[in-house]
Amino acid sequence: MQVESTTPQPPAGDGANIPVHVAFIMDGNGRWAQKQGLPRIAGHEFGVHCIQGILETLGPLGVKFVTLYAFSTENWNRPQDEVDGIMDVFSEAIASQTKLLHEKNVRIIHVGKTENLSRALLDGMAESQRLTSKNTGITLNVAIDYGGRAEILEAVRRIVKDGVDPESIDEDLFSRYLFTAQSPDPDLIIRTGGEQRISNFLLWQSAYSEMHHTPTLWPDLDAAELTEILENFGNRRRRYGALNPEDQSPDSSTPLQTPQE
Ligand code: FPP
Repeated sequence: MQVESTTPQPPAGDGANIPVHVAFIMDGNGRWAQKQGLPRIAGHEFGVHCIQGILETLGPLGVKFVTLYAFSTENWNRPQDEVDGIMDVFSEAIASQTKLLHEKNVRIIHVGKTENLSRALLDGMAESQRLTSKNTGITLNVAIDYGGRAEILEAVRRIVKDGVDPESIDEDLFSRYLFTAQSPDPDLIIRTGGEQRISNFLLWQSAYSEMHHTPTLWPDLDAAELTEILENFGNRRRRYGALNPEDQSPDSSTPLQTPQE
């Protein structure tokens, strides 16, 4: 799907204020495993099994795009055995989950760099992407070897290589050069695991995203909490730097002076 405009816009839902695109920073797998007395890698393995439930909750609510931050450009700095273990978890996840996701009409897309990933993993991802490319349900972006800064630099390189006229570079064009070109900007970014930072995730795309941080560890995020988070999102007023009509001065068309939000 070609996204025509990435200019911040209210979600194109049915008026019930459902986020079109929900992105997750999946944090807390290691701590979850340690709490159970298991090796950290068991947390990553369990983390994969949560994905089906997340999609089953979000799909019926009307969410159309889900992005999972599975492995960042900085995660290569973890101990080699954990990195190797996570890569194995990804390969196994792709092998075991693709068929199920395909049956559920999910379209899978890899977002991130490719040059550091193994041929086997790239082939697996390419195959799951090909198999599900015509699906019309949720689009699932799996961010592996993803970093917001690397993505922006890569977009700049490609724009220069394509010889794009500098005067024609606007936000829409730039967005089409990002790994996430096939998705609108996320309306809601949820971070599990208690940290309150963006960690190089969707730096360009999150300009007007609503944020939700929860102390819940990723493997413990369940349908009840997710539904509550979406209800909370539904009550937020998104202004995109402008004002809501009810905030305008009643006796003039001049808006009240407030700092940009
Ligand atoms: C962060 O937890 C999690 C990761 C670095 C890996 C997440 C990967 C998965 C859940 C698998 C997803 C797989 C696919 C194919 C989408 P952490 O290790 O930072 O946990 P901690 O903060 O408790 O140490």
